[in-house]
Amino acid sequence: MAAMRSRARLFAWVVGLAAPVAIGVWATSGKPPRLPADRDHAVAQAESKCLGCHTRSGAHPRPADHPLRDDCFSCHRDARGELHPRPGAPTSVPGGWRDDPLLAGSAATKGAGR
Ligand code: HEC
Ligand code: HEC
Repeated sequence: MAAMRSRARLFAWVVGLAAPVAIGVWATSGKPPRLPADRDHAVAQAESKCLGCHTRSGAHPRPADHPLRDDCFSCHRDARGELHPRPGAPTSVPGGWRDDPLLAGSAATKGAGR
Protein backbone atom coordinates (compact mmCIF):
# COMPACT_ATOMS: atom_id res chain seq x y z
CA MET A 1 0.00 0.00 0.00
CA ALA A 2 2.76 2.43 0.95
CA ALA A 3 4.72 1.51 -2.16
CA MET A 4 1.69 2.19 -4.32
CA ARG A 5 1.11 5.56 -2.75
CA SER A 6 4.70 6.67 -3.29
CA ARG A 7 4.49 5.52 -6.88
CA ALA A 8 1.37 7.62 -7.32
CA ARG A 9 3.20 10.57 -5.79
CA LEU A 10 6.14 10.07 -8.12
CA PHE A 11 3.73 9.98 -11.07
CA ALA A 12 2.17 13.25 -9.94
CA TRP A 13 5.62 14.83 -9.77
CA VAL A 14 6.56 13.64 -13.25
CA VAL A 15 3.31 14.93 -14.73
CA GLY A 16 3.62 18.20 -12.83
CA LEU A 17 7.13 18.83 -14.13
CA ALA A 18 6.64 17.59 -17.69
CA ALA A 19 3.28 19.21 -18.47
CA PRO A 20 4.46 22.86 -18.55
CA VAL A 21 7.39 21.87 -20.78
CA ALA A 22 5.12 19.92 -23.12
CA ILE A 23 2.60 22.78 -23.28
CA GLY A 24 5.40 25.24 -24.06
CA VAL A 25 6.69 23.11 -26.91
CA TRP A 26 3.18 22.57 -28.25
CA ALA A 27 2.33 26.29 -28.09
CA THR A 28 5.37 27.40 -30.11
CA SER A 29 5.81 24.52 -32.56
CA GLY A 30 4.53 25.07 -36.05
CA LYS A 31 3.66 28.70 -35.39
CA PRO A 32 4.37 31.06 -38.29
CA PRO A 33 7.43 33.12 -37.32
CA ARG A 34 6.95 36.90 -37.28
CA LEU A 35 8.29 39.04 -40.10
CA PRO A 36 11.65 40.67 -39.48
CA ALA A 37 11.35 44.43 -38.92
CA ASP A 38 13.08 45.62 -42.08
CA ARG A 39 11.98 47.17 -45.39
CA ASP A 40 12.08 43.86 -47.24
CA HIS A 41 9.35 42.70 -44.88
CA ALA A 42 6.98 45.67 -45.05
CA VAL A 43 3.41 44.39 -45.05
CA ALA A 44 2.22 46.67 -47.89
CA GLN A 45 3.64 44.66 -50.78
CA ALA A 46 2.68 41.84 -53.09
CA GLU A 47 3.35 38.25 -52.12
CA SER A 48 5.29 37.85 -55.38
CA LYS A 49 7.86 40.29 -53.92
CA CYS A 50 8.28 37.99 -50.93
CA LEU A 51 8.84 35.05 -53.23
CA GLY A 52 11.66 36.99 -54.88
CA CYS A 53 13.74 35.84 -51.91
CA HIS A 54 11.74 32.97 -50.44
CA THR A 55 11.12 30.92 -53.55
CA ARG A 56 12.79 27.52 -53.95
CA SER A 57 15.91 28.94 -55.60
CA GLY A 58 15.88 32.17 -53.58
CA ALA A 59 18.23 33.34 -50.86
CA HIS A 60 16.04 31.97 -48.06
CA PRO A 61 13.77 29.14 -49.30
CA ARG A 62 10.87 28.02 -47.16
CA PRO A 63 11.28 24.79 -45.21
CA ALA A 64 9.90 21.55 -46.66
CA ASP A 65 7.21 21.38 -43.96
CA HIS A 66 5.90 24.85 -44.81
CA PRO A 67 2.10 25.08 -45.27
CA LEU A 68 1.07 24.83 -48.91
CA ARG A 69 -0.09 28.42 -49.28
CA ASP A 70 1.33 31.66 -50.63
CA ASP A 71 -0.93 34.22 -48.95
CA CYS A 72 1.92 35.16 -46.60
CA PHE A 73 0.04 37.89 -44.71
CA SER A 74 -2.73 35.52 -43.59
CA CYS A 75 -0.26 33.81 -41.26
CA HIS A 76 2.93 35.80 -40.73
CA ARG A 77 2.50 38.63 -38.24
CA ASP A 78 4.57 41.79 -38.36
CA ALA A 79 7.44 42.34 -35.94
CA ARG A 80 5.02 43.72 -33.33
CA GLY A 81 2.79 40.67 -33.54
CA GLU A 82 -0.03 42.20 -35.59
CA LEU A 83 -1.63 40.26 -38.41
CA HIS A 84 -2.37 42.14 -41.65
CA PRO A 85 -4.36 39.71 -43.77
CA ARG A 86 -4.92 40.89 -47.34
CA PRO A 87 -8.52 40.12 -48.33
CA GLY A 88 -8.71 38.13 -51.52
CA ALA A 89 -5.03 37.25 -51.57
CA PRO A 90 -4.48 34.17 -53.76
CA THR A 91 -3.29 31.09 -51.90
CA SER A 92 -1.13 30.08 -54.86
CA VAL A 93 1.16 32.55 -56.61
CA PRO A 94 3.53 31.94 -59.56
CA GLY A 95 6.91 30.95 -58.13
CA GLY A 96 5.19 29.81 -54.94
CA TRP A 97 4.64 26.38 -53.47
CA ARG A 98 3.23 24.82 -56.65
CA ASP A 99 6.47 25.64 -58.47
CA ASP A 100 8.61 24.39 -55.60
CA PRO A 101 9.48 20.70 -56.07
CA LEU A 102 10.20 20.42 -52.36
CA LEU A 103 6.81 21.77 -51.24
CA ALA A 104 4.80 20.36 -54.14
CA GLY A 105 6.41 17.01 -53.38
CA SER A 106 5.16 17.18 -49.82
CA ALA A 107 1.68 17.87 -51.25
CA ALA A 108 1.92 14.64 -53.25
CA THR A 109 2.84 12.61 -50.17
CA LYS A 110 0.13 14.28 -48.07
CA GLY A 111 -2.49 13.73 -50.76
CA ALA A 112 -4.33 16.70 -52.19
CA GLY A 113 -2.98 20.23 -51.72
CA ARG A 114 -4.58 22.37 -49.07
C1 HEC B 1 15.39 40.81 -50.17
C2 HEC B 1 15.04 39.46 -49.79
C3 HEC B 1 13.78 39.21 -48.97
C4 HEC B 1 12.50 39.64 -49.25
C5 HEC B 1 12.00 40.51 -50.39
C6 HEC B 1 11.67 39.07 -48.21
N1 HEC B 1 12.43 38.33 -47.35
FE1 HEC B 1 11.74 37.30 -45.75
N2 HEC B 1 13.65 36.94 -45.15
C7 HEC B 1 14.78 37.20 -45.90
C8 HEC B 1 15.94 36.76 -45.16
C9 HEC B 1 17.39 36.83 -45.65
C10 HEC B 1 15.46 36.23 -43.94
C11 HEC B 1 16.26 35.61 -42.81
C12 HEC B 1 17.02 36.64 -42.08
C13 HEC B 1 16.20 37.39 -41.11
O1 HEC B 1 15.53 36.76 -40.27
O2 HEC B 1 16.22 38.64 -41.14
C14 HEC B 1 14.03 36.35 -43.96
C15 HEC B 1 13.18 35.91 -42.98
C16 HEC B 1 11.80 35.78 -43.12
C17 HEC B 1 10.92 35.10 -42.19
C18 HEC B 1 11.35 34.33 -40.98
C19 HEC B 1 11.62 35.14 -39.77
C20 HEC B 1 12.10 34.22 -38.68
O3 HEC B 1 12.14 34.69 -37.55
O4 HEC B 1 12.40 33.05 -38.93
C21 HEC B 1 9.65 35.19 -42.70
C22 HEC B 1 8.39 34.62 -42.09
C23 HEC B 1 9.74 35.92 -43.91
N3 HEC B 1 11.05 36.28 -44.15
C24 HEC B 1 8.66 36.22 -44.73
C25 HEC B 1 8.69 37.13 -45.78
C26 HEC B 1 7.53 37.73 -46.39
C27 HEC B 1 6.09 37.38 -46.07
C28 HEC B 1 7.98 38.61 -47.32
C29 HEC B 1 7.18 39.57 -48.17
C30 HEC B 1 6.47 40.60 -47.43
C31 HEC B 1 9.45 38.54 -47.31
N4 HEC B 1 9.83 37.64 -46.35
C32 HEC B 1 10.29 39.27 -48.14
C33 HEC B 1 14.81 37.80 -47.14
C34 HEC B 1 13.72 38.40 -47.77
C1 HEC C 1 -1.10 29.00 -43.79
C2 HEC C 1 -0.14 29.82 -43.07
C3 HEC C 1 1.10 30.31 -43.81
C4 HEC C 1 1.17 30.99 -45.00
C5 HEC C 1 0.02 31.39 -45.91
C6 HEC C 1 2.57 31.29 -45.22
N1 HEC C 1 3.33 30.79 -44.20
FE1 HEC C 1 5.35 30.89 -44.00
N2 HEC C 1 5.27 29.71 -42.35
C7 HEC C 1 4.13 29.25 -41.76
C8 HEC C 1 4.49 28.36 -40.66
C9 HEC C 1 3.50 27.63 -39.77
C10 HEC C 1 5.88 28.33 -40.63
C11 HEC C 1 6.75 27.53 -39.69
C12 HEC C 1 7.00 26.23 -40.40
C13 HEC C 1 7.93 25.37 -39.65
O1 HEC C 1 8.26 25.66 -38.51
O2 HEC C 1 8.34 24.39 -40.25
C14 HEC C 1 6.36 29.19 -41.69
C15 HEC C 1 7.70 29.43 -41.97
C16 HEC C 1 8.14 30.31 -42.94
C17 HEC C 1 9.52 30.64 -43.19
C18 HEC C 1 10.69 29.99 -42.51
C19 HEC C 1 11.30 30.81 -41.45
C20 HEC C 1 12.54 30.10 -40.96
O3 HEC C 1 12.85 30.32 -39.80
O4 HEC C 1 13.17 29.36 -41.71
C21 HEC C 1 9.57 31.56 -44.20
C22 HEC C 1 10.79 32.22 -44.80
C23 HEC C 1 8.20 31.78 -44.60
N3 HEC C 1 7.36 31.01 -43.83
C24 HEC C 1 7.83 32.65 -45.61
C25 HEC C 1 6.56 32.70 -46.14
C26 HEC C 1 6.23 33.44 -47.35
C27 HEC C 1 7.19 34.27 -48.16
C28 HEC C 1 4.90 33.24 -47.57
C29 HEC C 1 4.08 33.75 -48.74
C30 HEC C 1 4.61 33.51 -50.07
C31 HEC C 1 4.40 32.39 -46.50
N4 HEC C 1 5.44 32.09 -45.67
C32 HEC C 1 3.07 31.97 -46.34
C33 HEC C 1 2.83 29.55 -42.14
C34 HEC C 1 2.46 30.19 -43.31
